[in-house]
Amino acid sequence: MTSQGFAPLTGVRMDRQFFRFEEYLEFDPALVVDVLQGRRFGVIFRDVIPVAAQKEMVAKFWNSPALRRRTGEPSYHVGTYHWNKPIDTYLAESAAETPHVMDVLDVTDSPWHWFRSVLAEELAREGASLRLAEMSGAKACPALIRAWNKEGDFSLEPHEDAAQCRDPQQAGFEAQQVLDYEICAVNMCIEHEEGGRLVLWNIRPDDETRRRLDIEHTGFSYPPETLTDFEQIRLDIRPGDIYVFNGRHVHAVDASRGNRTAVSFLLGYIDDRTVVTWT
Ligand SMILES: [Fe+2]
Repeated sequence: MTSQGFAPLTGVRMDRQFFRFEEYLEFDPALVVDVLQGRRFGVIFRDVIPVAAQKEMVAKFWNSPALRRRTGEPSYHVGTYHWNKPIDTYLAESAAETPHVMDVLDVTDSPWHWFRSVLAEELAREGASLRLAEMSGAKACPALIRAWNKEGDFSLEPHEDAAQCRDPQQAGFEAQQVLDYEICAVNMCIEHEEGGRLVLWNIRPDDETRRRLDIEHTGFSYPPETLTDFEQIRLDIRPGDIYVFNGRHVHAVDASRGNRTAVSFLLGYIDDRTVVTWT
């Protein structure tokens, strides 16, 4: 190897017992709590979003007056994301976009609503609550509804979700406290045509690796050549599926054709009694 960028990543590899994605046909919030508490890597609940709810959300998404295209990417979204932004910008965008996001999410049997209420009940048994992340009274965006259609080996390039929670531009945002616990990604697939598998690698990169790749506060992206040494999982995703996994591991979406639209957010504990979500 001549390029230093292609040296293998360094970081934490989990044992094979942990690095597994388990499939279920019914939603069980206790399994989500397992992911949140670091006992389980990932879980997918197959076909748990009613077809009528999927269709209604997809129609509202593509017709939303707030539908935006991500600069420089063939990606459309309703809602906003904190990645690589000053926190004031994210919170102002969240306030402005939340009514549009809720309009897409407010359908009969909305998975966003039932996922949160059932998970909140489960957490309450342990004396913990679930809410949106905040800063100075301003709230995080409830969800990002996003369609990625990029061509190439990866429609969403390999990345991890921890680095973005240490961005100095976001000092004081509650999501930064999640780093003391696990960082979990939740995705609800509402539209999916072809391909677009979720790809996960058994590596949680360390700071040295992030600095070398100059992605210390973004975690985006890890060149595929740096990942070849690590065990990987490729998971087929279908409309109606909800999946939750530990976002410290490098993950991506492989080549897809047509629309692949999902409702997503991140979640984690900020203290032993509080779980927050953000986007
Ligand atoms: Fe991610």
